Amino acid sequence: MQQFEFYNPVQIVFGEGQIAKLASLVPEKARVLVLYGGGSIKKNGTYTEVMEALKNHSVTEFSGIEANPTYETMMKAVAQIKAEKIDFLLAVGGGSVIDGTKLAAAAALYEGDPWEIFTTGGQHIKAALPLGAVLTLPATGSEMNNGSVISRSETKTKLPFMNRHVFPKFAILDPTKTYSLPARQIANGVVDAFIHVVEQYLTYPANAPVQDRFAESLLQTLLEVGPQALATPHDYTVRSNLMWAATMALNGLIGAGVPQDWATHLLGHELTALYNIDHAQTLAIVLPSMLNVRRAAKREKLLQYAERVWGIKEGSEDARIDAAIAKTREFFEAMGIKTRMRDYGLEVSAINAVVEQLKAHGMVALGERGDVDLAISKLVLEGSY
Ligand code: NZQ
Ligand code: ZN
Repeated sequence: MQQFEFYNPVQIVFGEGQIAKLASLVPEKARVLVLYGGGSIKKNGTYTEVMEALKNHSVTEFSGIEANPTYETMMKAVAQIKAEKIDFLLAVGGGSVIDGTKLAAAAALYEGDPWEIFTTGGQHIKAALPLGAVLTLPATGSEMNNGSVISRSETKTKLPFMNRHVFPKFAILDPTKTYSLPARQIANGVVDAFIHVVEQYLTYPANAPVQDRFAESLLQTLLEVGPQALATPHDYTVRSNLMWAATMALNGLIGAGVPQDWATHLLGHELTALYNIDHAQTLAIVLPSMLNVRRAAKREKLLQYAERVWGIKEGSEDARIDAAIAKTREFFEAMGIKTRMRDYGLEVSAINAVVEQLKAHGMVALGERGDVDLAISKLVLEGSY
């Protein structure tokens, strides 16, 4: 196992009716800004519950955070935060709203040009406003981690940053608030969480059986509850297990002490930035080909994945790896997510366009060994077409 530090200060408050606890979770004297997206929280009752819980607090709002939140929009939130002397941020929504809120929290106190947050990966953030989250979409894990991914529309750039100051103080996970999600977003959530686990598990052996078996249990749980979540949208048990699996998939636990990949995500971000394809859809496009192209480097873990996650024990090593990759693709397709670039109407020229953007963003040495160069990324994209 590799050396590691594990730190996660996020208080999780889980279950139906827990939004009422905002009354005591948010500091009594705080000047609160509630941030949300395009209005789903108003349709499903979340907004009403949040405002009822905060009725004795000083509250204003910022709405209109897009799916794939933009830098431009979040700078408007920062202006409002400064004008209204806000000192606590409450994100109510999915990963986009929480990510956008993390940027606003850091940018509001940032000395210098806030865009530098992205050119330095968040390393120079020295402080951030405190934030809390009410999660409505199980997918990204943003509610319990210190990462954020933001798009800049003018340059078609989508970049992440991380910093411990943007861990939420608390996250409320009420599974009933996910009942209103359309099938597309449930599928996105399941596939995103699945691939978060894969990016931290399917690398090379690190003699870390605790992390491996935690990861395998999350994958198996997602395989089980994913289709159930589509079939029976109002099943509290199913939604609870999906929500907790997605949070656990990217809260730092399974990635501690093991090599991590993230090449699939970084290629996927370019596809979203250029062609506005949903985050999870881009991952479903890239991952099967990524595993195929890098099968030699990932051989031992691919065989472990085949056996322990998919129960594939028969056949030659290559046949087992082929079968595991095929099953992975079939699972994404069964969830309703297409797995090829051409399924989204992209021309073959998109391959070179993505490679050019990877080059422009310095994404030239990706993966657990830093050996995924532009030539390998191109091969992966050709296999994804
Ligand atoms: O804007 P509203 O009206 O709220 O609608 C949203 C949005 O259109 C809707 N929605 C959310 N909860 C709902 C709901 N509709 C009905 N009922 C509900 N309960 O769903 C749509 C998508 O929401 P979004 O927040 O964009 O989805 P998701 O949670 O999948 O977040 C995706 C973003 O997170 C980033 C992605 O890159 C992408 O920008 N990621 C963040 C990560 C992190 N911080 O650690 C890691 C991930 O890998 C990912 O990159
Ligand atoms: Zn993701």
